[in-house]
Amino acid sequence: KPVRLTDYRPPDWLVDTVDLDVRLHPSVTTVIARLGMRPNPLGRHGSPIVLDGDELELKSITLNGTPLGGSAYAATPSSLTILAPPQAAVTLQIETVLDPSANTKLMGLYRSSGTYCTQCEAEGFRRITYFPDRPDVLAVYTTRIEAERDEAPVLLGNGNPVERGDVEGTTRHYAVWHDPWPKPCYLFALVGGRLDGISEPFVTATGKPVELGIYVEPGKADRASYAMDALKRSMRWDEEAFGCEYDLDVFNIVAVADFNMGAMENKGLNVFNDKYVLASPETATDTDYANIEAIIAHEYFHNWTGNRITCRDWFQLCLKEGLTVFRDQEFSSDQRSRPVKRIGDVRLLKSHQFAEDAGPLAHPVRPSTYREINNFYTATVYEKGAEVVRMLKTLLGEEGFRSGMDLYFDRHDGQAATVEDFLTCFSETNSVDLSQFALWYAQSGTPQVEVSGHWDADARSYRLDIRQTLPPTPGQPDKHAMLFPLALGLVGPDGKDMPLNPDDGTNTAGTVLLVSKPEQSFLFRDVPERPVPSINRGFSAPVKLNANLGTEDLTFLARHDSDPFNRFEAGQTLALHHLVSASGQSREGIRIDDPTALVEAMDASLNDASLDPAFVAQVLSVPSEGEVGREIGTDVDPDAIHAARRTLRHTLGEALRPTLERVYVQHAPTGTYSPDAISAGRRSLRNASLDLLACTGGEADIARALTHFETADNMTDRFFALSVLAHNAPDVREAALTAFHERFKDDPLVVDKWLALQAQIAEPGALDRVRELTRHPAFSMGNPNRVRALIGNFATANQTQFHRLDGAGHTFVADAVLELDSRNPQVAARLLGAFKSWRSLEPVRRASAERNLKRVADKRDLSPDVADIVARSLG
Ligand code: ARG
Ligand code: ZN
Repeated sequence: KPVRLTDYRPPDWLVDTVDLDVRLHPSVTTVIARLGMRPNPLGRHGSPIVLDGDELELKSITLNGTPLGGSAYAATPSSLTILAPPQAAVTLQIETVLDPSANTKLMGLYRSSGTYCTQCEAEGFRRITYFPDRPDVLAVYTTRIEAERDEAPVLLGNGNPVERGDVEGTTRHYAVWHDPWPKPCYLFALVGGRLDGISEPFVTATGKPVELGIYVEPGKADRASYAMDALKRSMRWDEEAFGCEYDLDVFNIVAVADFNMGAMENKGLNVFNDKYVLASPETATDTDYANIEAIIAHEYFHNWTGNRITCRDWFQLCLKEGLTVFRDQEFSSDQRSRPVKRIGDVRLLKSHQFAEDAGPLAHPVRPSTYREINNFYTATVYEKGAEVVRMLKTLLGEEGFRSGMDLYFDRHDGQAATVEDFLTCFSETNSVDLSQFALWYAQSGTPQVEVSGHWDADARSYRLDIRQTLPPTPGQPDKHAMLFPLALGLVGPDGKDMPLNPDDGTNTAGTVLLVSKPEQSFLFRDVPERPVPSINRGFSAPVKLNANLGTEDLTFLARHDSDPFNRFEAGQTLALHHLVSASGQSREGIRIDDPTALVEAMDASLNDASLDPAFVAQVLSVPSEGEVGREIGTDVDPDAIHAARRTLRHTLGEALRPTLERVYVQHAPTGTYSPDAISAGRRSLRNASLDLLACTGGEADIARALTHFETADNMTDRFFALSVLAHNAPDVREAALTAFHERFKDDPLVVDKWLALQAQIAEPGALDRVRELTRHPAFSMGNPNRVRALIGNFATANQTQFHRLDGAGHTFVADAVLELDSRNPQVAARLLGAFKSWRSLEPVRRASAERNLKRVADKRDLSPDVADIVARSLG
């Protein structure tokens, strides 16, 4: 039974207040919920009260204080219906019991290393008590949490603490929390456990004090300080950038080891996957630090975009997620290097979202139908959703964007809103029609944009012809033209941007074209020399661009483009053309076998002292195997792509050797480790140099990597060197892997890195190694981080071995999905998503993928999560 956006009806009953009494017990937790309800004036009059449940056991029920007789209600584990309630305000009291220790789905109330915690988004609250589990039912919650004092000395809830004490005559204690802000039940949370914490005071812009707390497993409090620092910076930034101030007396974060996703923005009580909280120089890489900063910010920013203004229904998920990703990206850009952040975000978008858009799981930023909402927490909703907000800002300008945001916060505070509500705020404050722009929310697929430039020497003019097409995607055979901003520059022979004198259709700055038609031309006057066009600067629109530039023009842009993103992108395009051609799968048009131009462009960047090392490190990377595969499009042979990429990197290492050796030495560490962006950038360039040199397999290069590994004083360098050895030095790697494991075996988050690395070795032995590691004591099918590290990385970051010609990689992952499905459907479904590009494989591998997908589809009693992914994958 699919749910459809067009079927939305307001709820028949509203809940104004929720009073919860939760008595925690490892296997028999009792929940007494008192719901203050009333008929919704906008609902259907005379309706029964229908509440959602999931695996619940009802103990007792009263209406307005009177026990209900068996004929007055109907209860199953998945729903509770009060058949003929009075059509007036009522108090419904429901007692249920549940078993947190048996909750392996990690949805609802569960235990993680003994700590009681909750995850309610999207539909987990119904696993705690019967409730109208939909985001447009907003209530004020008061929660009493009771537990054994020994087992759970820390008791946390949403909102502000109001009372705590002992339960007299027992070994139990309790805490009462009250959240004054009406919220949907998916934002409910509680935590109870033996936890260490750190706390710090914060004062908001208007002078209100807030107590900030971060709770972690005992003994790990010293690893929470970076997260605390990131939180304080996030809170200040949101005040300054968006005028958003915090609104409770306390803000708590709890890190747990077993978590399905990254983190959760529960009101006043964020719950995190501990991987995105815990950091120390010895155990976390620069990437870990950057992720912690971004995710701490993301969940905090949800306080306004998600919590104060929430979603009317789950189709509107991008309303909070796309917007909040945009906000966290902007935060990180302000804290670090904006161009490098943009390059990283676009690389992520291309590797995950473009892949999704190109396959059977493609869906619009706002889907119009779903069978399992948990399968829509996707790169499309999150990352493409953020790109759409970014385009809105580019189109309206800084002030126009801010005026729309201000109106949105003002008008919809306290409401469950829609994408239309959001867009209306911008069209009103800017007096623009955004109806064509709104297609970005409705049409799936990545627009293909073809640009060709024509310089007229006599007329001293330059014309750009632009053509956009949107390929068909599941359920959407025909598309309309999209409206998007295309930022550009015309680079003169001197390498400088020419002044732009557009004829029409450009914004006030004259550097952003408004593209809105299937075919469109733009004319620029007073162009005395032939320019090289730099199109889609800063990746102003999330499109697949073909600018029809030859090697010479791309090399020129890679050396001179004033836009850092396009300077990077020009090198990537050169490399991509080379890799497609070198993998023997070139289609007509593109043919670049000789990487000399690329080598020269990279060398120029390496020698340009004015460039940020973090940027140069990006320049040294070559497009991923997945990206090359998408460029090829059909009948993809992962082995050929891998070989081409390996050869190219070997060539680059040899050709750039003197420069790389010098850069490696120049960027040696100067003091003790600091995770700041400048220091991280130096490390990333030094490590990128180490890597390219080691790709050649030279003895001295491997020795250098080994020394780097052995002398590192931080995880970034140590782990990077380990992975260089693992991929390039089969003789040395086993000893290095063993030494690393020995040193960090008691640290699960570091063991995850060790598992992930081994899963990624692109050699025929990888599958056996991964199989063996599933039997390692450190591995557990019950912990999502372990599963993602080992099996997830094998399926998504080891293309040649997952797509083994003999099909054994596919069989292994399909088996893992089936095994996981009965335990944790969400994690199983996500793992199955690794098959999403199967149709573009060459026939033998394609057949093996299809066979395994069908085998999964044929299994009885599949979860809705896996059933949905497999059906759409085969569909
Ligand atoms: N709202 C959370 C975030 O964006 C994600 C929670 C998703 N959880 C889930 N089970 N689908 O940070
Ligand atoms: Zn989010």
